[in-house]
Amino acid sequence: MHNIRKITDDLISIGANDRRITRFENQHPVPNGMSYNSYLLLDEKTVLLDTVDKAVGELFLENLEAALNGRELDYLIIQHMEPDHCALIPRIFELYPQAKVLGSQKTFVMIQQFFGLDLADRAMVMKENDTLTTGVHTLRFLMAPMVHWPEVMVTYDETSKRLFTADAFGAFGAVDGNQYADEYNVDTDLLPEARRYYTNIVGKYGRQVMSLLEKISHLEIEMILPLHGPILRQDLHYYIEKYTKWASYTPEEKGIVIAYGSIYGNTEHAAELLAAKLADRGEKNIVVYDVSAWHPSYILSECFRFDRFVFACSTYNMEIYPPMEMLLLELKGHNMQNRTVAVIENGSWAPQSGKKIREILAEMKDMRVLESEITIKSAMTAADEEALDALADMIAKA
Ligand code: FEO
Repeated sequence: MHNIRKITDDLISIGANDRRITRFENQHPVPNGMSYNSYLLLDEKTVLLDTVDKAVGELFLENLEAALNGRELDYLIIQHMEPDHCALIPRIFELYPQAKVLGSQKTFVMIQQFFGLDLADRAMVMKENDTLTTGVHTLRFLMAPMVHWPEVMVTYDETSKRLFTADAFGAFGAVDGNQYADEYNVDTDLLPEARRYYTNIVGKYGRQVMSLLEKISHLEIEMILPLHGPILRQDLHYYIEKYTKWASYTPEEKGIVIAYGSIYGNTEHAAELLAAKLADRGEKNIVVYDVSAWHPSYILSECFRFDRFVFACSTYNMEIYPPMEMLLLELKGHNMQNRTVAVIENGSWAPQSGKKIREILAEMKDMRVLESEITIKSAMTAADEEALDALADMIAKA
């Protein structure tokens, strides 16, 4: 039984939720599932914007048939070739053989790579600012390379002032009935998973996201329609401002992420003591994460949010305790930069984690590592606590 949602009389949402998925891209936990959005424009010509993940393929095809209601499909616009959106392309080619296919040049290379398909005369290669008039609507294509793959383009409907943004402005999580972001409590129910989605999936490509933001700043936009999560139709400046901060690696607000890697609890104790000392100095946004308990995607997301980090870590096999090393490599891999960082190490006979952590931080851009070095030998001493007080002063002043 199909499940299609009308946005306007001529624009239908035909995507679907996957609530059985546990890890997006087989790595990021998605406890509330994922939505794979797809849109059908019913103008004089019919236009499908992207397909979906194979997990929801059958429902999507039923939705498409129902939304077309007996009409032919004239155009398929492919904005992004990652398989969470492109999986149903071969089925669309089979079911609607007359449909022309629009994408960037690299899109057609990837169609060949993924599916071994050469579209020949069905392919319409789009370049920056090319347009397609479908009747009442004129669609303009803007190239958005590396937001999140090199072939990505976004689509601006000049007639209805709607911007179809591919992965940009998406979120982790299924869409719970309400299809517009303004129908949710944005700060508590939407923003954390939108931030975790952006930072982990697209976060590395801040420069390219900034260039897309610059392009769209010249457009009059009434609605943003991403390929994941709810549609945005109110307070668009709020989301664009968040994206601008994330893409420029600017903290959203003052706050401290304390991430600790602790084997038997002694390093954890230092992290807890430091959190309390920071609170005593008036700090409000303090978030403490055990790197063994939290998937790095959550901690990375908080690191994009706040301006100061503390890494407190045991030494393990003369190296950084592995879950902490994974977090640091994720931060480096996502181009995290422009932050103030403190390091606390622990080691019972040859502490090494502090030095190794600083080596990774040195490979990142504009990471200001506080001078104070705290080395715990097994368990905290009175002298260590004094050093923690001094460190708390430095972090609070930073
Ligand atoms: Fe939702 Fe980059 O795919």
